[in-house]
Amino acid sequence: MVDKILVIGSSGQIGTELVEELRKRYGNENVIASDIKEPQVIQHGPFEIVDILNKIQLADIISKYKIKEVYLLAALLSATAEKNPAFAWDLNMNSLFNVLNLAKEGIIKKIFWPSSIAVFGPTTPKINTPQYTIMEPSTVYGISKQTGERWCEYYHKRYGVDIRSVRYPGLIGYKSKPGGGTTDYAVDIFHQAILAKKYECFLSENTTLPMMYMSDAIDATIAIMKTEDSKIKIRSSYNISGISFSPKEIAEEINKLMPDFKISYLPDSRQQIANSWPQTIDDSYAKNDWGWSPKYNLFTITKIMLENLEQLLPKENKY
Ligand code: NAD
Ligand code: SER
Repeated sequence: MVDKILVIGSSGQIGTELVEELRKRYGNENVIASDIKEPQVIQHGPFEIVDILNKIQLADIISKYKIKEVYLLAALLSATAEKNPAFAWDLNMNSLFNVLNLAKEGIIKKIFWPSSIAVFGPTTPKINTPQYTIMEPSTVYGISKQTGERWCEYYHKRYGVDIRSVRYPGLIGYKSKPGGGTTDYAVDIFHQAILAKKYECFLSENTTLPMMYMSDAIDATIAIMKTEDSKIKIRSSYNISGISFSPKEIAEEINKLMPDFKISYLPDSRQQIANSWPQTIDDSYAKNDWGWSPKYNLFTITKIMLENLEQLLPKENKY
């Protein structure tokens, strides 16, 4: 029998695609989607409104569906978190404690919780950033992710909690809207390319950041959760890497398929956040321990994003 899975924060960018993929693999009825807002797309399977900060609501759903595995995706992302640091800390930390404690009590068996490249800061080496290095994050989001990593490792060592985590880079997908991250320009640029053939970027042209196509991120997530327990050597969070590019480079790639697309630059407060993050990531531990390997490059991502958004975005809004 398949263990029942709960995805918390299922209506967001990652949740939308993760729920679809988990249901393909494990069956619609075995994957329960949950969020404080309705799904962005039609999903086939159970959906529940759950506020992760409400322990009673959470316990009720876990018990109702006899949940054994939790994917915790609810969080405020970097740019949104800077607007309300106290709330971001509350949500990003207490959501994690609520789930870790269910595992500590033996009610659930396994947890996936994503960390981020935001755990690194201005003093971290920016090129080929190692798994183990200086980590002095300068955003509340990064501080919450770094602290979360420490607690994950602690719960594993002290209470034997089976927690698995990756440090996602900026993620790019066409199935949902951007969710308030600094890397989300690399999603929005495709929407604006289709809708207006132009994009004003909030980062400067040469700001290189680590990025990844959503399908690669979903593969990494499911792969680390399926890996035999003894092979998961890192219980804080694994570096994973896809590709790295700047706004100028992604615009040049779009121009190859859409020659009249134009980009302009008006950096705002998100520039400072981006400046504090790595440019490229060393993911050799993930490769060695559980066989991580990405598939998508900038050319394939650009083609997939433009082709799919051309079909999906409302025709009346297009240029
Ligand atoms: P998102 O903002 O698109 O989705 C988050 C979802 O959580 C939203 O649907 C939101 O409604 C839900 N949510 C918020 N508060 C909630 C609450 N109290 N209870 C239940 N649900 C709640 O974010 P995402 O891009 O899907 O990111 C998911 C996770 O992955 C986050 O932990 C984020 O930090 C991490 N991550 C994302 C990226 C990225 O590029 N998208 C990169 C690194 C890490
Ligand atoms: N993509 C995320 C953000 O920009 C990084 O975790 O917030």
